[in-house]
Amino acid sequence: MKNCLLHKPVMVDEVVEFLCLKKGYKVLDATIGLGGHADFILKKIQPSGALIGIDRDKAALEIARKRLNKFNKICKLAHANFKDLDKILKDQRIEKIDAALFDIGISSYQIEDANRGFSFERDGPLDMRMDQSSPLRACDIVNKYKRIDLEEIIRDFGEERYFRRITGFILERRKNKPISSTRELAQLIEEAVGKWYKFQKIHPATRTFQALRIAVNRELDNIKIALGKVLDFLNSGARLCVISFHSLEDRIVKFRFKEFEAEGRGRVVTKKPLTATADEIRENPRSRSAKLRVFEKY
Ligand SMILES: C[S@@+](CC[C@H](N)C(=O)[O-])C[C@H]1O[C@@H](n2cnc3c(N)ncnc32)[C@H](O)[C@@H]1O
Repeated sequence: MKNCLLHKPVMVDEVVEFLCLKKGYKVLDATIGLGGHADFILKKIQPSGALIGIDRDKAALEIARKRLNKFNKICKLAHANFKDLDKILKDQRIEKIDAALFDIGISSYQIEDANRGFSFERDGPLDMRMDQSSPLRACDIVNKYKRIDLEEIIRDFGEERYFRRITGFILERRKNKPISSTRELAQLIEEAVGKWYKFQKIHPATRTFQALRIAVNRELDNIKIALGKVLDFLNSGARLCVISFHSLEDRIVKFRFKEFEAEGRGRVVTKKPLTATADEIRENPRSRSAKLRVFEKY
């Protein structure tokens, strides 16, 4: 199962501990990816119980299906957006769950595949769709959106202070021909703002690529909708773990958990987000930006 090696699940020990898993539990893994966390969860709940795994990425889901085949009696997978988790749980005739995990963002499996167009380090089509059956690609935004909308995306989803200059360069370039590859866009951004990024740790295209990815996949809307729904399905005492990889998502999770607490629906277990240990970061540098927040339903 070589593909599994392309994505190491982050903070597995913490997730397993904080979900307080027991044999026979019903668990929702809203972002099953390649099934890394699910593998550990299933080992804890087997031989009964159930794990419902959702992912928007059909290719990832197929890898997870093979990997988790040994648990096929208690593991059900759905190709869907987690914002529709209510419908998916109803389809599975599950009224209540004992634990839920969201490990949001993209997987290394998606980043590493140049054809998916997520990475400015690999040349590929400017795509960035997690669900390859959805209609909007990054190239549509870059080549068709109005200046004001493009500026807003790069500013708000990328927190990129040079959003105006980058948008200006994109608009100038696309007058001649559409921008269609990741390399072309990354080089253009470097031309636009490279000099200001000389002494920064990140590549000049990092923030714009993040912004486009969030816009293509409507990532922030999806997590807001899903968090609004998931609590209704949790049993009393059930835990919800959310791992996020950038501050925009983490902020949403943090405020939503506070609201739930203020509404008397449960308690925030992690007053500060948990982060990966130094050992894990050494082994898996992607875990460096992971933040885990945990909520317990009353
Ligand atoms: C960080 S990976 C999860 C990795 C997984 N925990 C593992 O151990 O293999 C995030 C996954 O969430 C999926 N995803 C992101 N947003 C989603 C959404 N709104 N609905 C369903 N899946 C989503 C991505 O396609 C990706 O496979």
